[in-house]
Amino acid sequence: MFDLSGRVALVTGAGSQRGIGQAIARALAAQGAAVAVADIEAAGAERIATEIESSGGIARSYVLDVTDERAVQTVVDRIIRDLGALDILVNNAGITQPISVKDMTLADWNRVMTVNATGTFLCSRSAIVHMQSRRFGRIINISSVSGKRGGGVYGGAHYSAAKAAILGFAKALAREVAPSGVTVNSVAPGLILTDIRGGVESEAEQCEISRDIPLQRIGLPEEVAATVCFLASTEAGYITGEEVDINGGSHID
Ligand SMILES: NC(=O)c1ccc[n+]([C@@H]2O[C@H](COP(=O)([O-])OP(=O)(O)OC[C@H]3O[C@@H](n4cnc5c(N)ncnc54)[C@H](O)[C@@H]3O)[C@@H](O)[C@H]2O)c1
Repeated sequence: MFDLSGRVALVTGAGSQRGIGQAIARALAAQGAAVAVADIEAAGAERIATEIESSGGIARSYVLDVTDERAVQTVVDRIIRDLGALDILVNNAGITQPISVKDMTLADWNRVMTVNATGTFLCSRSAIVHMQSRRFGRIINISSVSGKRGGGVYGGAHYSAAKAAILGFAKALAREVAPSGVTVNSVAPGLILTDIRGGVESEAEQCEISRDIPLQRIGLPEEVAATVCFLASTEAGYITGEEVDINGGSHID
């Protein structure tokens, strides 16, 4: 089950050493996919691609700023040339900022909206043309519980707005591309142990946060990656426009 041999995947924001993107890239590669590891940080992307290759997987690294329209198209074209196709796109690149609305500048708002939401739009637009022509594709967006329940420790209101925008965008796109065999789904992780909040929380902070999570712990990047692998698989072919919560019960709807 969930064999991805012969598939080519692009994971954006996959260069962070303890991030969700690298876990997704490793998991897709372990299932047999060739993985384009893309990140705005060249060294991080290179390191993850090299590590995947040294454990027997197929990976290439690409420098990519998902907010750069021209660069997105160029990198998607290069991946198709280098790896032969693009079957799976994981829109993972994202940033957050803990800030209240009264202190938020327009530049803060624009930066968080652009990386999270506009980046998802640009990468999806470049990928679907190729996916539709092959009548197969899987787009998986990394939204957040913040887009469903609001911020707090999960980020500012601009982050919530961007992550909610991703959910709406995915549903509309899912309807648009379904006739050509392309599915579009999102996952909405709760708190996951990564560096996105400026470094992983201390043990004491983790205990404090975990009190409000029914499963009493913070999630792991690999737990998000497992769901993404499933949504990328042939077996998930009848699921589209869906969002999967991965949050330990911190938001149940
Ligand atoms: N960690 C959590 O608790 C959590 C919860 C819900 C959702 N998410 C989402 O998961 C995704 C991954 O987050 P993470 O926790 O692994 O964070 P992270 O900071 O470890 O990784 C984010 C990666 O995105 C890259 N990036 C930033 N701006 C970029 C750009 N313009 N173009 C390309 N790459 C860019 C960074 O270089 C970094 O490698 C994000 O979309 C985040 O919003 C995280």
